[in-house]
Amino acid sequence: VLPQETIRRIRDGEPVSQNEIAGFANGLASGAIGDAQAGAFAMAVFLRGLETSSTVALTEAMRDSGTVLRWPNDGRPVLDKHSTGGIGDAVSLVLAPILAACGARVPMISGRGLGHTGGTLDKLDAIPGYRSAPDLDHLKRVVDETGLAIVAATADLAPADRRLYAIRDVTATVDSLPLITASILSKKLAAGTDALILDVKLGSGAFMTTRQAATELAEALVSVANGAGLRAAALLSDMNEPLAPAAGNAVEVQAAIDVLTGEDAAPRLRTLTLGLAAALLQLAQIVPDRETGLLQAERALVSGAAAERFARMVHALGGPADSLERAGRYLPQARIRRPVFAARDGTVSAIDGRAIGLVVIGLGGGRRQPQDAIDHAVGFTHLRGIGETVDENAPIGIVHARTEADAEAAARALQAAYRIGARVERGPLVLGRLD
Ligand code: URA
Repeated sequence: VLPQETIRRIRDGEPVSQNEIAGFANGLASGAIGDAQAGAFAMAVFLRGLETSSTVALTEAMRDSGTVLRWPNDGRPVLDKHSTGGIGDAVSLVLAPILAACGARVPMISGRGLGHTGGTLDKLDAIPGYRSAPDLDHLKRVVDETGLAIVAATADLAPADRRLYAIRDVTATVDSLPLITASILSKKLAAGTDALILDVKLGSGAFMTTRQAATELAEALVSVANGAGLRAAALLSDMNEPLAPAAGNAVEVQAAIDVLTGEDAAPRLRTLTLGLAAALLQLAQIVPDRETGLLQAERALVSGAAAERFARMVHALGGPADSLERAGRYLPQARIRRPVFAARDGTVSAIDGRAIGLVVIGLGGGRRQPQDAIDHAVGFTHLRGIGETVDENAPIGIVHARTEADAEAAARALQAAYRIGARVERGPLVLGRLD
């Protein structure tokens, strides 16, 4: 079938066969499909949608466009998580070591900051020496030895997605449910994942601000994953406030290390991570039910087994051997730190998470242009959550900045992102589960 015929059929809402979609995706990978055709395809899908079976075909063809990792069949299931992104979301840094300590292999293919949200790779790059882009042999070795590796997608993993994503980025076709779904899942499938937990966030700091939009994305991800033979479930989780009391890169690594080492510093980060771990251990049939999963995950944390996995992974990927004990010495620190006080006393009633993410970028903790270098030290710590009180002794957070002027601008923006009002009840952290 001519590519322009496939594009026309999608444009006109006519059915397309799985072979046809697969042929198109192969052309994306090989270069036989030109940029103009790829852009028109993306826009046709954006405007008309794509049936689940066609989205499965696109996902599988993008998976097969490059290397598909195979892992030994030795009773250690390959597990992974995908989050739709948020503020203070350092879950991966805690979850992957927990899963490894519970007997899984976790080759976690992670991303950089997107829009207002932070990216796991940017956070890990705050650790001196950490190599987030090992070659395939190194990746396999680290996963075999430590159980986990949190790394970037290599060039030969789902190259068709890489190409289509770059074209979507400049053709206003990123936020299409079938294209997002195929993009995310093709990379997970190429990494050889057996079971996947999806953390679909909703609220002021998420891409999906409403429950309906988040539910639609979760449903699309779970049904296409299942269609492609990947066991998956989704938790809908609250992103109306930063998940950890920190937002930035080094500060979020520190928050994750605090959870791993048993500090009671980021309870929501800890709770959500344990919930995701329990759901995934159950999905992968490592445990018979969620309660047992929760117990195992908690034991991995409390015993220090997860912390030990994290430390070994960091060292195996080029970081210091004592990254946990001496995090304070290794992680970059901002020159300026100062508390930010609310304009009036009261209770935090709402937080604009998206605004906080944008302030972190403004401080230099994220990118304005794709090629920008980022400052890993800047951001916020000690951020208050919804329902907590603030007054002249209790700041809403501490800003970490490079200059006084940056700190001043960020402080004003943080004040504007916090609504102080009457006492409110926090909603639940996990709002639902989709299987
Ligand atoms: N993350 C991805 O990998 N792809 C998308 O399309 C959106 C988010």
